[in-house]
Amino acid sequence: MDEKTDRCVFNADMLSRKTAVVTGASRGIGAAIAHRLCEVGANVVICSRSTESVSQTATSLETKGYTVHAIAADISKKEDVDTLIDETINQFSQVDILVNNAGITRDMLLMRLKDEDWDAVLQTNLTGTMYCTRAVLRPMIRQKNGRIINISSVIGLMGNPGQASYAAAKAGIIGLTKTTAKEVGTRGITVNAIAPGFITTDMTAKIPEEFQNKILDFIPLQYFGTPEDVADTVCFLASDAARYITGQTIQVDGGMVM
Ligand SMILES: NC(=O)c1ccc[n+]([C@@H]2O[C@H](COP(=O)([O-])OP(=O)(O)OC[C@H]3O[C@@H](n4cnc5c(N)ncnc54)[C@H](OP(=O)(O)O)[C@@H]3O)[C@@H](O)[C@H]2O)c1
Repeated sequence: MDEKTDRCVFNADMLSRKTAVVTGASRGIGAAIAHRLCEVGANVVICSRSTESVSQTATSLETKGYTVHAIAADISKKEDVDTLIDETINQFSQVDILVNNAGITRDMLLMRLKDEDWDAVLQTNLTGTMYCTRAVLRPMIRQKNGRIINISSVIGLMGNPGQASYAAAKAGIIGLTKTTAKEVGTRGITVNAIAPGFITTDMTAKIPEEFQNKILDFIPLQYFGTPEDVADTVCFLASDAARYITGQTIQVDGGMVM
């Protein structure tokens, strides 16, 4: 078995009347998360840096009859994040679910790593996640309800040669997740992280095939994950079924790290 069916296993009204923001949703895991959240009834706001690609993703979801709003926003810029959340509230009057998914890699062995590449990865993956999280806290506290789901990575748990910046940022997301969970637990807000393993997207397509085969040796289930595997875990964490789960990091990795 190496393909997950795209069939949604959740009820179509599971998140009806909820508004979700998904960052980095023009393709890959973010697009699959946006699709799943639509399928379970949420209104979804999606963002990415490229107006064209995020609009295309929104149009394809709207064609299926879903309520989607596309915003071009670079989460590494505080002003863009403020606009993203302000526009979400203007459009839907609330923000119930935030999925911090946007992320980049600039891989290089630490000895040769350029300062600007380190800064870009930390600014997008970690600081961007913090900007988005901080921006939704006030509205979520007012609502006495909220779900924040941060996409980390197994690389943040185990490290990986050539990925010092990415590993540091993804490990930082886990610390941010736990701290935020402790700060807002009494306000009806849960904060969790997902650590995907190897998921087939544009990001992993860059990895040479020979190296991909080596990775497979470390995966007990013996196949790579799909964006839908991560999207389903997001749906679960956003649902009432996960109301007593906070501060956790859920691995979606076929058993790669244990
Ligand atoms: N694929 C994997 O195996 C894997 C494993 C573990 C964790 N993850 C994590 O899962 C997340 C999604 O990964 P993916 O594989 O789907 O990556 P991807 O295919 O490269 O997609 C990344 C998405 O993020 C957007 N993005 C990048 N920088 C942004 C920024 N500054 N502001 C707003 N949007 C931005 C991109 O759109 P634009 O280029 O238009 O901005 C795109 O929509 C990332 O956080 C990644 O680290 C992936």
